[in-house]
Amino acid sequence: ASLLVLHGPNLNLLGTREPATYGRQTLEQINQALQKLANERGHHLQAMQSNAEYELIDRVHSAAREGIDFIIINPGAFTHTSIALRDALLGVGIPFIEVHLSNVHRREAFRQHSYFSDIAEGVIVGFGADSYRLALEAAITRLEASAS
Ligand code: DQA
Repeated sequence: ASLLVLHGPNLNLLGTREPATYGRQTLEQINQALQKLANERGHHLQAMQSNAEYELIDRVHSAAREGIDFIIINPGAFTHTSIALRDALLGVGIPFIEVHLSNVHRREAFRQHSYFSDIAEGVIVGFGADSYRLALEAAITRLEASAS
């Protein structure tokens, strides 16, 4: 199957950005590990990061045209603000898992509302870079169950 990993704003700074909160792995390292895991399991994975809301929206639209089967998304701060990105995901109807490195529920109150959680297949928060790996494992399990 084809999977797409989307990273929202400021996640390009991973590795140096608030390491106590977000860990020391770079986005490149996270993407490479996901790519490797997907390939080992016989799936195809692409990843994209953008600081621009419209680029993430456009990528969701093109995912539908490309026949992407599943999206893993960390919308970054757009989690708490972007009705437009929510509507893009609803619009294409591609199943997705919402991921956060930090445990947003033990942080500021404004991080505790998400525009994505109620329409996601599931949400994984608080495990650092491992949140992405856990999401990929769950996505692959879902995809393999629906293919058999
Ligand atoms: C984040 C949590 C968001 O609140 C924050 O704005 C981010 C990263 C996370 O992965 O923990 O940019 O999505």
